[in-house]
Amino acid sequence: MRVVRTCHAMEGLATRWRREGRRLGVVPTMGALHEGHLSLIRAAARTCDRVVVTVFVNPLQFGPREDFARYPRPFARDVRQARQAGADAVFAPAVTELYPSGRPRLRVRVGPVGARWEGRIRPGHFDGVATVVLLLFDVTRPSVALFGEKDYQQTLVVRDLIRDFALPLRLRILPTVREPDGLALSSRNAYLSPAERHRAAALWSALRAGRARIRAGERRGAVVAGVMR
Ligand code: PAF
Repeated sequence: MRVVRTCHAMEGLATRWRREGRRLGVVPTMGALHEGHLSLIRAAARTCDRVVVTVFVNPLQFGPREDFARYPRPFARDVRQARQAGADAVFAPAVTELYPSGRPRLRVRVGPVGARWEGRIRPGHFDGVATVVLLLFDVTRPSVALFGEKDYQQTLVVRDLIRDFALPLRLRILPTVREPDGLALSSRNAYLSPAERHRAAALWSALRAGRARIRAGERRGAVVAGVMR
């Protein structure tokens, strides 16, 4: 498995694979890989001839008071895990490789889907995600891109990006991978104190309780929200 650091080398490799008729899958990540990422890489390896995992902590999608500097970067472990899960290449550019002048001059501005929910408390976040994902697609030239359903709003943004820019690739969304108590796997779970970690499991209990009520026929949103709370 190769570790590729430059756009030029990545484009060359992807072009060669495409010329050889290989079907290329890409799994975009910010590293700190966990079982959720690995399930995407394994799924890509089952259905594609070549798999590229991108590892890039994208400054554009972090707000000024967010965790860009302390975001976990266990790179050697990521490379090992990506290889064991079936990746053929890890594309891990430096920030200056993707954004030579530090910040891109142009950005993707996402539509209404990026303004609601998480977008309301993280202004600009989804513009940053869409901009880097477009760039990563451009450099890796995949036939298929795989994302986790955990970041549901992000999958809607990527879906719009692919449709609106007529990108020649297919989007696959795979189910969230959870801890035994239901907490969704996330690189940021490492930030939780034991008490916060304990409380976080309530999210999955609440979702399950709400789902059970809806399946039992309840259609009043306020009642479902009350049960979940
Ligand atoms: O989901 C992530 O890890 C990131 O938002 C992504 C898609 C790799 C873009 O930086």
